Amino acid sequence: MNTADFIFQKTTKTVEKATYTWQTPSNIALVKYWGKSEPQLPKNASISFTLNNCHTTTTIEFERKVNQEKSISFELFFEGKKKDEFKPKIAKFFERILEYCPYISEYNMTIHSENSFPHSSGIASSASGMAAIAMCLISLEKELTPNLPEDFYTQKASFLARLGSGSASRSIEGPLVVWGKHPDIEGSSDLFGVKFPYKVHPVFEDYQDSILLVDKGEKQVSSTVGHNLMYNHPYAEQRFKQANENLQKLSVILQEGSIKDFINLVESEALTLHAMMLTSNPYFILMKPNTLEIINKIWEFRAQTNSNICFTLDAGANVHVLYPKAEKQRVDDFINTELLKFCQKNHYICDNTGVGAQAL
Ligand code: PMV
Repeated sequence: MNTADFIFQKTTKTVEKATYTWQTPSNIALVKYWGKSEPQLPKNASISFTLNNCHTTTTIEFERKVNQEKSISFELFFEGKKKDEFKPKIAKFFERILEYCPYISEYNMTIHSENSFPHSSGIASSASGMAAIAMCLISLEKELTPNLPEDFYTQKASFLARLGSGSASRSIEGPLVVWGKHPDIEGSSDLFGVKFPYKVHPVFEDYQDSILLVDKGEKQVSSTVGHNLMYNHPYAEQRFKQANENLQKLSVILQEGSIKDFINLVESEALTLHAMMLTSNPYFILMKPNTLEIINKIWEFRAQTNSNICFTLDAGANVHVLYPKAEKQRVDDFINTELLKFCQKNHYICDNTGVGAQAL
């Protein structure tokens, strides 16, 4: 598929009024995307677990304009309240995708959105949020042009979500999604995410992610600023190469079930992401003292018990604790007795891998 394939082909069909609701999850990258070029194309391929419990639910009501005025018009409600301060980001997204979805300018849109996780918990809501809007638009598009293959709609939803936030391209399907062209991943593309196309070893099925909320504050580095740090970064080219190599290795690990190698690769990816921020200019430390306390406790626990627990990090201080389902009870006990004291207000979220967007 090329970018031009995603341009809407007008038909004679019209839809006067429609309402769609979608629930779309957040995701956690195992091999990280950090660095992009215009228009939101990744410098390296990445792979993530799609989550299940951390999600956004969005309803869009479309009402065809009576006048023929062609401008983007929408109202935005977040958790039941009108949120004009969130509008510029969404407006920018709509402008960016207008080329591919020109029909949006023919409607007055009312958007209602809410997250299952607390706002400003440090859990990125842009991935799940942009994916939910993309799914609602694709539902309308499906009514306007109903006869295209199902795959096309899924790819276009991911393509649109990507233009809102790169990682959102990985929030349409699950439980493992690759975004970015990679020679070892059949069907992979820089334009949209694809489901990991190979059979995954049962040990990675229903994988668990307990998200320890170390710092619920607003992000210290927005992702736009963050990705821009990779321009002129002294280690950028080596990093992009390493990420692609790591994805190649992880593809084999996921198929063979070599969990010790999984742990090593995933933790190294997390620390490398933060190393990129430590070594950029301007430089940032996004981990907090409690992030390090938790990492050290995880390492101690693993050494003492031979558990398969490991961690990964986003561009923030929260720690995602990953482990196989078979270890749930043991890890839960460990989190409750040893790690909760490092979380803000003892707060953590139990999640696991999920299948992606769901129509409600
Ligand atoms: O999608 P963005 O632009 O918010 O970037 C996300 C970057 C990381 O979350 C740090 C890594 C990733 O691959 O999700």
